[in-house]
Amino acid sequence: MTRTLIIGAGAAGLMCAAHAGPDTLVIDHAKAAGEKIRISGGGRCNFTNMHTAPDNFLSQNPHFAKSALSRYTQWDFLDLVQAHQIAWHEKTLGQLFCDRSARDIIAMLLAEMEKADATLQLQTSALDIAKTETGFRVTLETHGKRRTITPQHIVLATGGKSIPKMGATDFAYRIARQFGHAVTQTRPALVPLTVEDRFKPLAGTAAPARVWTETCAPFEEAVLFTHRGLSGPAILQASSYWTDGAPLWIDLLPDTDLAVDLKAQKKSYGRKALTTALARHLPQRLVDHLASELALTGNVADQPDAGLDDLAAALAAWKVTPTATEGYRTAEVTLGGINTDGISSKTLQSKTVPGLYMIGEAVDVTGWLGGYNFQWAWSSGWAAGQAI
Ligand code: FDA
Repeated sequence: MTRTLIIGAGAAGLMCAAHAGPDTLVIDHAKAAGEKIRISGGGRCNFTNMHTAPDNFLSQNPHFAKSALSRYTQWDFLDLVQAHQIAWHEKTLGQLFCDRSARDIIAMLLAEMEKADATLQLQTSALDIAKTETGFRVTLETHGKRRTITPQHIVLATGGKSIPKMGATDFAYRIARQFGHAVTQTRPALVPLTVEDRFKPLAGTAAPARVWTETCAPFEEAVLFTHRGLSGPAILQASSYWTDGAPLWIDLLPDTDLAVDLKAQKKSYGRKALTTALARHLPQRLVDHLASELALTGNVADQPDAGLDDLAAALAAWKVTPTATEGYRTAEVTLGGINTDGISSKTLQSKTVPGLYMIGEAVDVTGWLGGYNFQWAWSSGWAAGQAI
C-alpha cells in the first residue's frame, strides 16, 4: 500500500521522502535520482548558503518562504551533512560545497530515505492523477507496464523547466493547474544573457564588477564575456531580475575611484594614452572595446578633469541592453511556478485540495545563485514531510 506518492526524486522529493512517514513511494522518470544535484556546483554541489534568509529569494509573495526556511535552516542541513561525514568547505560568500563530489549528497539523501523505509522507483511516470474521496487514484507506468495506486497524499516535486535535456518537464505546473492552482508566468533565471555580436571579440574576458537592473540592488561578483554575450555570477544573479528589452548596468571598477586615479595619472604620467591608463584597471580587450564604444582617444593630459569625471561615471554605470536570455537550455532555475497563494506556507499543502503538496523549484520561490535553491528544496521538502 502506498500512503504517500512523491513525484520527482530530485533534491526536494528525496528530502521529503526521508520525512514523510511510512509507506512512501518516490517515483522519477529518470534513470537515476538527483541528477541535478550530481551536476550542480561543477560536480561539487553548492548545497546551501550560510547567509540564507528570505531576502535571497524571488516570489510574487516574498513572505511565503519564511516559514519553511526558518524551521529547517541551512544549519540543519549542514548538521545532516556532517552527520554523514561529508567533507565540505566555504568557497565564497557563504557558499558551502562538498570537498569531494556532489554524489556524496545524493548518497546521503538516499541513505536517509532508506532509513525512513521509503521506496524509490526510477524510470516511472505518473500518467494521470484523479481525486477520490479519500485521496487520489494514480496510474503509473514503468517500462511500458501500467498499474494503479491510491495514495492518500501526493507530493509534486518535479522541479522547473531548466535543462530539458536532463528530463525537466512542466509536469508539476500541469497537475497543479488540473487541480485548480494558478501558475505564475515562468521564465529562465540564473541564466547567461545574449548581446549583439559586438561583444564577440571579448569572449573569455572576465572582470570583477557590480551588476544591477531596474529592479534589483547590485550584485558584486565576476562578469564573464562570452561568444554569445554575458555570463559569470554577477550576470546570472541579475538575470533573474532582468526582463525582455530592459537594460542592465555594470560598474566595471567597483573597488576603484577611477576619477581620482585618472586625475592622479594626469599629473604624474600625463603623456600616457588614456587607454593605457585604463588598462591599469581593466583587461586590455575590454579597454579596446570601450575605446571604440566611447570614442576614447588621446593622452590622459588631453582630457579636461570634467571629461575624466564623465568617463569614470560612464564606467561606473555602463549600460548594456541584452537581446535575450540563453533560455532553459542553460538556465540554472525557472523563475516563477505554482502560485503560492493556493499553498500553505507551513505545510506546503494545497489550501483547496487536501492531500496535495507542492515543493521545491516547482513552486514560485526562486533563490539567488549560491546554494539558495537547494536550501529551498531541503526546507520545503522537510516541511511537507513533517506535515504528512
Ligand atoms: P529537481 O530538478 O532537482 O528534481 C526534479 C525531479 O523530477 C528530477 O529528478 C526529474 O527527473 C523528475 N521529473 C521531472 N518531470 C517528471 C515527470 N513528468 N515524471 C517523473 N519525474 C519527473 N542550486 C543550488 O542551490 N546550488 C547549486 O550548486 C546549483 N547548481 C546547479 C547547476 C545546474 C547546471 C542546474 C541546472 C541547477 C543548479 N542548481 C543549483 C539549482 C538546483 O539544481 C535546483 O533548484 C534544485 O535541483 C531543485 O530541486 P527540485 O527537487 O525542486 O527539482
